[in-house]
Amino acid sequence: MVNRKFTVLFLLLGGCTILAACGGGSGSNPGPGYDSSSGSSSSSSSSGSSSSGGISVSLTFENLYALAEFPIGVSVSAANEPYSIMQGEWSEAQRQVIEQHFSSITPGNIMKMSYLQPVQGQFTFENADALVNYALSRGIGVHAHTLVWHSDYQVPDWMKNFNGDKDAWLQIIEDHVAGVASHFAGRVDSWDVVNEAFEDSGYRDSLFYQKMGADYIETAFVAARAADAGADLYYNDYSISSQQPKLDHVLAMVDDFKERDVPIDGIGFQMHIHMGSPSIANIKASLQKVVDRGLKVKITELDIPINNPFDGSYSYPDNYQAVLTPELAEQQKLRFCEVVAAYLEVVPTHLRGGITVWGLFDRDTWLKQAFFDNNHEEWPLLFNHDLEPKPAAQGVGDALMGEECL
Ligand code: XIL
Repeated sequence: MVNRKFTVLFLLLGGCTILAACGGGSGSNPGPGYDSSSGSSSSSSSSGSSSSGGISVSLTFENLYALAEFPIGVSVSAANEPYSIMQGEWSEAQRQVIEQHFSSITPGNIMKMSYLQPVQGQFTFENADALVNYALSRGIGVHAHTLVWHSDYQVPDWMKNFNGDKDAWLQIIEDHVAGVASHFAGRVDSWDVVNEAFEDSGYRDSLFYQKMGADYIETAFVAARAADAGADLYYNDYSISSQQPKLDHVLAMVDDFKERDVPIDGIGFQMHIHMGSPSIANIKASLQKVVDRGLKVKITELDIPINNPFDGSYSYPDNYQAVLTPELAEQQKLRFCEVVAAYLEVVPTHLRGGITVWGLFDRDTWLKQAFFDNNHEEWPLLFNHDLEPKPAAQGVGDALMGEECL
């Protein structure tokens, strides 16, 4: 474990150029896929300053991943996506930060269904192979995402248009999972096998549910295990750390799977959370329920935005926070620290699947799109626009080092 101490130093840079483009535009237009509970922030004191790149600190450690005995991950853009780590102007600088601080990567998009099987029976693995091979060449593990997800943009057209009875549908799910998971077998550590199959009311009424009922979930897990006996298999979802009914539905499925020997190793908590919600008490209670079942717990998509369009009192532009102030950056540091500390407190060593943040740097957060149609800024990640570490990164490190969250 590297634990070299430096003095925390805020770099004072210029004004926020990006915010020149922040005025006007419509309010939030959130799609599915993140924690919709509301919350608010309280203030605390700090020092530092915002800049074109954002607030940065000198970390008191050299390698974030070296502070943990479980994977510390980051989702990445790849292939020809904006901010790809495989090509383009930001790729090399991003790879340097990834190699310095992370022991695991997750492809943010390029292993989803339409990317890997755009035409029935024709798998396109080139981009994903390049990314996985890059990671392995650097000793970085891969948490792969995701074998089955209903979200419209990544269900291939041929699947949307597929005409067949329930058995035929189950066969295409099995074929997709078998084709993909066997291709990457031995090269990825774990899979999000099924993503977002529940709502607070029970099973999500997705295309897959309409065609197959809940059976597609079980089919996917069984096929994944058959294709790759070595990978940990996760069910992954959002809004399951706030003590809302959704987690109980997930756990009922888990209990049923365990009773019938359907393979599942863990639950992925996406944790697209907010500064003020869910409470740390609710996060702990939620993680505990999974631990109580002996399943692994992985935080799979952690990000903590400054703005919360789901807060009942939020209305753009009245209380849109247009600058990451030093005070807010410190609150965000505290929040990241407390979340990681909660994970360490509740999840015993043998059940720690790891913690992954959803995006490397604020320039490449999906929340700008999800919250603001790309019209406004957000700063939910550990590294700023110039790839410098933010106080949030120190907060994660503090928790991993067992230091008090400040
Ligand atoms: C997001 C990606 O980050 C975006 O680039 C894409 O436009 C939409 O999907 N939950 C998930 C992830 O499981 O796959 C989503 O990723 C974020 C929400």
